[in-house]
Amino acid sequence: MLPARLPKSAVPRTYRRIAPTHDGLAVLVEAQARRLGLDWFDAQDGETLLEVAVGTGLSFQHLLRANPNGWTEGVDLTPAMLRKARRRAEHAATDRYRLREGDAYALDYPDATFDGVLNSYMFDLLPVDDFVPVLREFKRVLRPGGRLVQVNMTPAAHWYQGGWEALYRLHPALLGGCRGVRTAPFLREAGFLNVRRRFVSQWTFPSEVVYGEKPAAGHVP
Ligand SMILES: C[S@@+](CC[C@H](N)C(=O)[O-])C[C@H]1O[C@@H](n2cnc3c(N)ncnc32)[C@H](O)[C@@H]1O
Repeated sequence: MLPARLPKSAVPRTYRRIAPTHDGLAVLVEAQARRLGLDWFDAQDGETLLEVAVGTGLSFQHLLRANPNGWTEGVDLTPAMLRKARRRAEHAATDRYRLREGDAYALDYPDATFDGVLNSYMFDLLPVDDFVPVLREFKRVLRPGGRLVQVNMTPAAHWYQGGWEALYRLHPALLGGCRGVRTAPFLREAGFLNVRRRFVSQWTFPSEVVYGEKPAAGHVP
């Protein structure tokens, strides 16, 4: 994995610039992986759900559609991205949600609050040393037995998918600071169970979808 080159302190500034054009590229190259991530997440009506790094709300709108009578929270570090997410969420047929500023490293929720946590295209910005601490933070806010689904940019599986990381090497901001990562081993290290991963490529852009569960109460390792 290439080193992360966008420090957290630069994320809101960088994504304020990206917010107006973010969705074009995202729809073009991330839609299939996002769809698979939502399928694996399998949001049910009546659940309490969290999306971390909700961005412009591309996945959040699907969570609201699936969960009109439960409660859905979305957090992001960048106010400009959240403004777009709010506009998108206003079209939903439910007001049982909240979107607010929040940091994946220190989620402002009590332990065991959520049935599921969804997180897409954020770990590709983080330093590898931060993977396990942030995954433990996701695990903390999940109820026992709750699930985590991540969608990430991932390293190329074939030469013709390598152009995206070449762009990152050239100038990390061109890809919003995203480079390919593989998070499944880190989910296991953070104590998630039943971890699985699938590789998805759309227009040569390589993504991974990763699933894991917090151990149920009384689980014996
Ligand atoms: C590439 S965008 C992806 C947005 C959205 N998840 C999606 O799939 O379209 C990365 C997002 O991660 C957010 N982000 C980065 N670091 C974060 C952190 N520590 N806590 C919360 N959000 C963060 C950025 O503000 C940005 O909105």
